[in-house]
Amino acid sequence: MIFRQLFDAESSTYSYLIGDEKSREALLIDPVVDKTAQNLDLLAQLDLKLVLAVDTHTHADHITGLGALRDATGCITMMGNQAVAKCLSATFSDGDQLSVGALRIEVIYSPGHTDDSYSFYLPGPEPMLFSGDTLLIRGTGRTDFQNGSARQQYQSLNRLLQLADNTLVYPGHDYKGWTVSTIGEERKHNPRLQANSCDDYIKMMAGLRLPSPKMMDIAVPANQSCGNLT
Ligand SMILES: [Fe+2]
Repeated sequence: MIFRQLFDAESSTYSYLIGDEKSREALLIDPVVDKTAQNLDLLAQLDLKLVLAVDTHTHADHITGLGALRDATGCITMMGNQAVAKCLSATFSDGDQLSVGALRIEVIYSPGHTDDSYSFYLPGPEPMLFSGDTLLIRGTGRTDFQNGSARQQYQSLNRLLQLADNTLVYPGHDYKGWTVSTIGEERKHNPRLQANSCDDYIKMMAGLRLPSPKMMDIAVPANQSCGNLT
């Protein structure tokens, strides 16, 4: 497997490139529109053909590259079936599998940060979880807008914590310099996962009082049209 973790410093967003070595087919998770040229260059340099681009959820802090990548490569674009975006090629739902060459990626519905939040799981000797903004390293995604729900997120986190301890956790963002963790490490050391009950977690999330993301008013409507600003 070919794997690259990509970073957009402007929004502290991670995007992920996953490629199948034999077929040279590739998938991008959470691409950022400003990085389209760089992503296309990387695909060419690695001799990969982009067949699929997906977003884990409707982002409020950056504009998605889905539309631009589809225009440039003809790739399929997908989000969860709860997403408002009408410009997608197709949608996925819980339990679906995404195929990239011989790779099979499992789709896990993990609402809470938003009502259209998904995680992706790639099984293997070192399993990988792409946890979007559901599970961050030493944190969890906020639940106070975009139909977020701390109750649903608590349930989603519990589901993700069923995965094996050695599962690598690749989040949608990081603001502190973390790049990767594991389920076992997060279970032990993530302060948000130390809540004793769902009510405890809801209280914890209600106490955060976070400012709105600075791009929210632009990014959410743009992302509902796959990144087109018009
Ligand atoms: Fe988000």
